Amino acid sequence: MKLFDVYPLYNVEPVSALGFEIIDSKGDTYFDFYGGHAVISIGHSHPKYIKSLTDQLNRIAFYSNSVLNPMQNEVAQRIADVSGLNNYQLFFVNSGAEANENALKLASFHNGRKKVIAFKKAFHGRTSAAVNVTPDAKIVAPINATFEKVFFDLTDIEGVCEEIFQGDVAAVIIEGIQGVGGVHVPSAELLQKIQKACTLTDTVLILDEVQSGYGRSGKFFAFQHAEGVEPDVVTMAKGMGNGFPVGGLLIHEKFAPRMGMLGTTFGGNQLACAACISVLDVIKSENLMHNAQVIGDYAMAELKKVHGVKEVRGMGLMIGFSFDFPIAELRKRLVYNEHIFIGSSSEPNTIRFLPPLTIGKKEIDILVAALNRAIATLFS
Ligand SMILES: Cc1ncc(COP(=O)(O)O)c(C=O)c1O
Repeated sequence: MKLFDVYPLYNVEPVSALGFEIIDSKGDTYFDFYGGHAVISIGHSHPKYIKSLTDQLNRIAFYSNSVLNPMQNEVAQRIADVSGLNNYQLFFVNSGAEANENALKLASFHNGRKKVIAFKKAFHGRTSAAVNVTPDAKIVAPINATFEKVFFDLTDIEGVCEEIFQGDVAAVIIEGIQGVGGVHVPSAELLQKIQKACTLTDTVLILDEVQSGYGRSGKFFAFQHAEGVEPDVVTMAKGMGNGFPVGGLLIHEKFAPRMGMLGTTFGGNQLACAACISVLDVIKSENLMHNAQVIGDYAMAELKKVHGVKEVRGMGLMIGFSFDFPIAELRKRLVYNEHIFIGSSSEPNTIRFLPPLTIGKKEIDILVAALNRAIATLFS
């Protein structure tokens, strides 16, 4: 049987990994500055992570959400502890799209409305409602396009607020930092004004922190850089399980659950919780949010000096840097000549840098040197 062929692939087969390093089937070592789309938060094969998952596998891997699972409460407690968000409830899912799907559903349950405000260049996932608020016509099937959505520029504060004040908007969904769109940071003013307008109109504010959350921006969630913003729902996934597929929603305490309102077979299983607990443990014990801030500042400064770089954007260890030429060939040379994994985005000229949060200055220097070498070969 053939695979359903939807992914352009690099000709590299990883077989093991440790920290930032990935070893392929030929025994070659690669540096990971991408974490497989921002997933690897605490580094590959962290000993605490391996122990937590192995121990759990030897006890029980899975039972459904029809029995007690205190590990779920422990994850909730630990998220509250590291994020400082104490007035939220946690609902587990399995991916980022599923987190956003449930957030949109919850919003519509709450105020009975259907229209959604989202942003140009956003990406919220591929499930039905999530993809309908993702402005990429190529990935929206007719069956997904079932409710009205309006897309605004991240700078159009007035336009967004006017639309919210129409009073018929179910939800505003916005990434803490736009990722797939090329790393664009919404202004604190935008988030604060949306928050106010949402509160006055009973519109649900959903912060999609699937990529920007879990310490990557230097705070646990990127929206926490904007003072006073208190979303109704925060969605998360990627860094949450360091590779184990798990996602979640933080739902403000003002939303009351009712039996059967949301549900999932796999979400929050024991093995997923073991992954989450070890990730949160390492983020706290290794001070990774602080590391993301300090090393992120260093990386921003160093990347600005790279030959041909026109703009560097982002926060902490979520950085996009743009050139005045398309980066596809450069990325190929980085993989094959320099053995470096780094990301692209929907902007052809922008590279996305989303390394494990454990990275240090030494690794940034390795990246910068490799970039300069690879760029020199492009123009020689
Ligand atoms: C901001 C954001 N939201 C949602 C998603 C979808 O997550 P998943 O691929 O886990 O469904 C992504 C994936 O890239 C994302 O970056």
